[in-house]
Amino acid sequence: MKKIIAGSSSPMLAKNLAKEMNAPIASVSVKRFPDGECYVRLHEEVEHAIIVQNTYPDENIIELFLLEDAAKRMASRVDVIIPYYGYGRQDKIFEYGEAISAEKMARLIEQDASSVILVNPHKEHIINFFSIPAMAADATTTIAEYFKGKVDMVVAPDKGAAAMAEKAASVIQCDYDYFEKHRISGSEVETKLKSMDVAGKNIVIIDDIISTGGTMIQAIKQLVRQEANNIYVACIHGLFIGNADDKILQEGAKEIVSTDTIESAYSKVSVAKEIAKLLENLKN
Ligand code: R5P
Repeated sequence: MKKIIAGSSSPMLAKNLAKEMNAPIASVSVKRFPDGECYVRLHEEVEHAIIVQNTYPDENIIELFLLEDAAKRMASRVDVIIPYYGYGRQDKIFEYGEAISAEKMARLIEQDASSVILVNPHKEHIINFFSIPAMAADATTTIAEYFKGKVDMVVAPDKGAAAMAEKAASVIQCDYDYFEKHRISGSEVETKLKSMDVAGKNIVIIDDIISTGGTMIQAIKQLVRQEANNIYVACIHGLFIGNADDKILQEGAKEIVSTDTIESAYSKVSVAKEIAKLLENLKN
């Protein structure tokens, strides 16, 4: 029997997934010793474990490893769901001497796992770092559905998010565009929308991650300057470091929407359905 093992990072998503799959949530204790070390214990037999845990922030990584270890000792199958794959942004060597954290994490996670599902990893090729079956769930459609009837256009804050904006726009059935960087001089860079006119339009800016909010704020500033009407901000993974959410709202965003990969007041849509679909396709 499949049972969900909910790590401490995404209990809301674990609950949504359990409901979606009609599977129970196993009873688990997760504690910290006085020195900060993590302790986990499964309180019931688990035959097929589905662990839900982020690899962000750092303490959740150790918790994931311990949950995998405990599960592997009793279950015949351990599927690992990582809603937000922290350490995914360092997915290659940018400068000589660096580590590839996205690959190293994969090596460690796969040791006790039968398969892994990541939700919108920062780059698609990250799943290829795993030597066990690995899949990526995509929450773009779910987010786009939230904005149906609310916006006339989807905008990506940079070229990297352009494909996501295009996909969201096809669901909403509206236009999309993305910001491109133009170098004005050696020290000056300006960002401009590739082609579209935004004046008077209701727009959602979409990206995979909001961390400090800097990328979104740049885009909001430009859209306000170009007299866009309502500006919404959406992401899959809302980290909101250093009050990024307040800064985004102060800059003029009408609403922020993120998924439940990282729980916050902005987790207005769930990625449970996409994960459940992928789990169904896995061989038992
Ligand atoms: C970058 O490649 C990502 O897609 C996001 O645009 C970035 O992580 C956002 O970071 P911040 O919110 O700090 O600008």
